[in-house]
Amino acid sequence: MSERLFLAVALSDDVRHGLAAHLATQLGGRPIPGRPARPEGWHITLRFLGWATEEQRDRVLGFLSTRMDVPPFTLGFGGLGAFPREGRAAVLWLGVRRGDEELSRLAALAEDAASAAGFEPEERPFHAHVTLARIRPPQDVSALVADVADFPLTQEVTAMTMFRSHLVRGGARYEPVERVDLR
Ligand code: 2AM
Repeated sequence: MSERLFLAVALSDDVRHGLAAHLATQLGGRPIPGRPARPEGWHITLRFLGWATEEQRDRVLGFLSTRMDVPPFTLGFGGLGAFPREGRAAVLWLGVRRGDEELSRLAALAEDAASAAGFEPEERPFHAHVTLARIRPPQDVSALVADVADFPLTQEVTAMTMFRSHLVRGGARYEPVERVDLR
């Protein structure tokens, strides 16, 4: 059996609903460009694993639960941003203002777990973000980014979550598989 997995910080219902309302107000009727990510699936990816066997999944989870050394922390959000850049955006995201250091430590732990389970190293540097839309072809989103105020809610992060990604028509659906408590 093989499944498509990734490790992430799940956003709370309050934060997801609050963010949807914040964006609707701040955008004032303007649509989000490109293909919006479903609000129910909004998250902060720590490590994308890709196709994994049952044994690899168990190894990653075992590693994370025995080595976890990041205590619960408060996550605070920022404003919008874009990859690779605002002038030619392929991904529109919400940034993180508080808890960035803890997220980086979780991403490093996730990388070690992935390596222990035989995954190839992630080459891209970690940049904490919540993907809001994927834009093909890329667009200039600088006016939009400048217009949207920082998202004011915070959330207590108490776990890392492993998700299964199902590719469905028009995008992906994410199903939580397992939580590893922070401590
Ligand atoms: P992104 O949102 O920043 O694009 C599930 O697919 C999550 O894993 C997405 O949030 C995505 O991050 C991330 N991810 C990282 N690398 C990926 C890859 N090669 N393929 C699909 N998703 C990837």
